[in-house]
Amino acid sequence: MFYEVPRLVTHIDDDAIAAVGDLYEELRIDGDVLDLMSSWVSHFKSPPRHLRVLGMNDQELRANPAATDHLIHDLNADPRIPLPNESIDDAVCCASVDYLVQPVEVFRDVARVLRPGGRFVCTFSNRVFATKAIQAWLYAGDEERCRIVAEYFRQSKVFDAPTVERRTPPDHRGDPLYAVWATRG
Ligand SMILES: C[S@@+](CC[C@H](N)C(=O)[O-])C[C@H]1O[C@@H](n2cnc3c(N)ncnc32)[C@H](O)[C@@H]1O
Repeated sequence: MFYEVPRLVTHIDDDAIAAVGDLYEELRIDGDVLDLMSSWVSHFKSPPRHLRVLGMNDQELRANPAATDHLIHDLNADPRIPLPNESIDDAVCCASVDYLVQPVEVFRDVARVLRPGGRFVCTFSNRVFATKAIQAWLYAGDEERCRIVAEYFRQSKVFDAPTVERRTPPDHRGDPLYAVWATRG
């Protein structure tokens, strides 16, 4: 019910959004890309050739100018992504990983849809919707949240060792931006 209403807002500040786009450029995220738990913005500086966006609200996804395909799907009801095996070059998920109630199953299924060598890039800040995030996230500090996401990668047993980075400078005054990503093993 929460997602019946479109929310055409940004969930992190401009510097944090720029940090997400910079990371995607640095990692050369392009080709067939999946933006998991997406909305009307995907934060790419230059959009990938083919961007599938998966989320809960049709209007939000249709307003996404970078998107070429829209998938309405509730990953908490069904952690299986409605895409064929090895159909995606890279996957991203911004400001949303904390909502997953079956994260390891979802991470394992991201690996299923990734082609060999594909990366899954999760980014997040310290903002939280207390009614939507899992309880562990609410009680964790920023570093612990990075460890939680790294643990999702490890427990899925299908990714190489994850990289964890703070992408905004330590003295940054706005929203901090953290990234945890790994390559499909
Ligand atoms: C905080 S917003 C972040 C949106 C976007 N990734 C961004 O960076 O602005 C959370 C998004 O996750 C999606 N979402 C929430 N729960 C979901 C679920 N169970 N399955 C799939 N998508 C979900 C919603 O559609 C919503 O747009």
